Amino acid sequence: MEFAKRIQGIESSFVRDILKLATQKDIISFAGGLPEANLFPTGRFAKAAQEILTNPKTAKVALQYGESTGFTPLKEIIAKTYKIKDNLDIDPNLIIITTGSQQALDLIGKTLVNEGDEVLVERPTYLAAIQALQFYKPKFTEIELSSNGPKTLPNKTKAKLAYIIPNFQNPTGITWSNEKREEFAKWANKNNILIVEDDPYGEIRFSGKRQKPLKTFHENTVLLGSFSKILAPGLRLGWIVAPNKEIFHALSLAKQSADLHSSQFTQLIAAKFYEDFDAQAHIEKIAKEYGKRKDILHSKLKEIFPTAQITNPDGGMFLWVRFPEEIEVLSLLKQAVDEGVAFVPGVPFYVSNPEKNTARFNFSNTNESAICEGVARLQKALKSIV
Ligand SMILES: Cc1ncc(COP(=O)(O)O)c(C=O)c1O
Repeated sequence: MEFAKRIQGIESSFVRDILKLATQKDIISFAGGLPEANLFPTGRFAKAAQEILTNPKTAKVALQYGESTGFTPLKEIIAKTYKIKDNLDIDPNLIIITTGSQQALDLIGKTLVNEGDEVLVERPTYLAAIQALQFYKPKFTEIELSSNGPKTLPNKTKAKLAYIIPNFQNPTGITWSNEKREEFAKWANKNNILIVEDDPYGEIRFSGKRQKPLKTFHENTVLLGSFSKILAPGLRLGWIVAPNKEIFHALSLAKQSADLHSSQFTQLIAAKFYEDFDAQAHIEKIAKEYGKRKDILHSKLKEIFPTAQITNPDGGMFLWVRFPEEIEVLSLLKQAVDEGVAFVPGVPFYVSNPEKNTARFNFSNTNESAICEGVARLQKALKSIV
């Protein structure tokens, strides 16, 4: 079969392959990017679903086709949340509800990226964003990260758009400071670059102060959000805030042709969750638990890798390890899987010249005792390779 050119050269996600491996036996996995399932608000979802389906008016809306750009009350909730959290005025008419923010990445590629267009990404960056955008054959350029944002910005650039994850970045856990955001926004403005600000983790903060969305500093920003980490990924709900009507319209056409609209049923459940329950308290509960897990993972990894550089994030679900050069990360992973623990090597998070001595560790989906056991297994693996 001759496949379309756009899929040639696209490889299966390394993480998905690893995850398959990690579910095969009794493995403690720091590899995936899963939220803690025990924190899903199942009872509240059940109550919301029951009420929606037993009321004929809402049942019809939930089970009928809906508008391509999404369920208006849910868009209003999203806009209201930005006002409360960031004092940001968002027009609900510029919001498109997507099937997870992963779909938003695809729609952005489809709508805005021509073959050969220069797309700026952080180094490293979210590997499934690389995969989604790769279908549209851009030329990626990278900006190196320091602990609080880009190290330096190029003097000259032809980049059309910049894809960034400024809060608790996947994979590094790094958060951009307000100063770095402002500086970047000025630079993007001067160079006429559209910013794509991907923020699925911003609300999962367990320490420090919330930083301002880049959108505050740069009007020409497409802001992405997701309910995956704050409610549940199974809802498959994310959103796009378009910067203007023109981009909103183009993205709406792409959305319509992709899947007509995202699930009405889960949109109604998410909206009802916010209307009937204290969503903020729920998010704080998640953040508190993840904060405890991060502390344990960070300190245990520090004990066994005293000379490694390990990020210490204020939120999100990941930390990033830069091992000393003598540690062969792929050999360590192989031994680790034999010992019953998995993590993700850093290589697939780079679009070029990967730093091979890096790795990403997830802390949201492993409880405290399993984290201790997982790191003990990792220590055994380490002993067998050095
Ligand atoms: C940075 C980033 N963007 C987007 C996504 C996609 O999330 P979803 O499609 O579940 O909203 C993820 C998922 O892990 C992510 O880490």
